[in-house]
Amino acid sequence: MKASFIVNGQTQEVDVPEDMPLLWILRDILGMTGTKYGCGIAQCGACTVHFNGEAVRSCQIGAYALEGAEITTIEGLGTPEAPHPVQDAWIEMQVAQCGYCQSGQIMQAAALLRDIPVPTDAEIDDAMSGNLCRCATYPRIRAAIHRATAKTGGR
Ligand code: FES
Ligand code: FES
Repeated sequence: MKASFIVNGQTQEVDVPEDMPLLWILRDILGMTGTKYGCGIAQCGACTVHFNGEAVRSCQIGAYALEGAEITTIEGLGTPEAPHPVQDAWIEMQVAQCGYCQSGQIMQAAALLRDIPVPTDAEIDDAMSGNLCRCATYPRIRAAIHRATAKTGGR
């Protein structure tokens, strides 16, 4: 099937099997490998992107759902010159260890701060609970989200 949708502000057109996951389309068709494959069954959050403004697991979104969608991946969240406040905070707090889960963590955190500009620890833990990190960077993730909140002034 053919589908036309927007990724990081650019229109993309693909011709793929209708059940091909967005994760594969991003990585294998469009060459955007910042979004990671962890489990493929919605259990780890490594593949998190923004889909029409919501944080979703891209391994669970089939090509049939893509027509007209607006998608943001880690490649489009910010730039090296103008990082997203969450990316800035992540660097300042040196969150990453191996880094594999981190693009998913950052996309989930950015969606959280859009919905709840000044989250409590409980709200952070609730929002981030589906994003697993084998390196156990959870305390630094929480601290970086608070740091990002301070950067945005809660806006
Ligand atoms: S790869 Fe999608 S949730 Fe794990
Ligand atoms: S930083 Fe290694 S899995 Fe999260």
